[in-house]
Amino acid sequence: MKFGRIGLAMLVATAFSVNIGSAAEKDPLAPRVPADQMAAAKAWKNPMKATPDNIAKGKEIFNGKGTCFTCHGNEGRGDGPAGAALDPTPRNFHNPKLKGKTDGEFAWVIKNGSPGTGMISYVPGVISEEEMALVILFERSLHDQP
Ligand code: HEC
Repeated sequence: MKFGRIGLAMLVATAFSVNIGSAAEKDPLAPRVPADQMAAAKAWKNPMKATPDNIAKGKEIFNGKGTCFTCHGNEGRGDGPAGAALDPTPRNFHNPKLKGKTDGEFAWVIKNGSPGTGMISYVPGVISEEEMALVILFERSLHDQP
């Protein structure tokens, strides 16, 4: 098999990006929920109200019992120390595009993990459903914050 100069350069570039390229966030809008479970996932409505008090409680769980901060960072920017080595990188919740996702899709990932990534299941093993609902309020409060 013969490679032209450009073909060879592309091959080298591909190998380089696979082996040494820095990790990136996987398209945040791509669905993580399997298609056959999407309708059920989206039907989940957050039972908690987004009051300042509940958002503060969610942040406390995020930065404490839930251990979310270790990967997602204290302010949810996806820059926690344990996330640095992960590819794809942890979600940065300060992304206005995330308004295109539902609370139910977040809940599905927090319960089931995002297969093939460092995001594993945290409910019910680490936090309860109710704690998850509060954490989601905190995460969602960040989408509009620069
Ligand atoms: C060990 C590292 C790690 C920890 C700890 C962690 N996450 Fe994640 N999380 C990730 C990674 C990596 C992704 C990106 C996965 C992807 O791109 O599919 C992610 C993605 C997410 C998403 C995005 C789902 C979507 O549809 O885009 C949510 C929500 C989330 N995490 C919530 C949490 C919550 C809540 C906690 C704590 C209870 C937590 N994570 C703890 C690594 C972590």
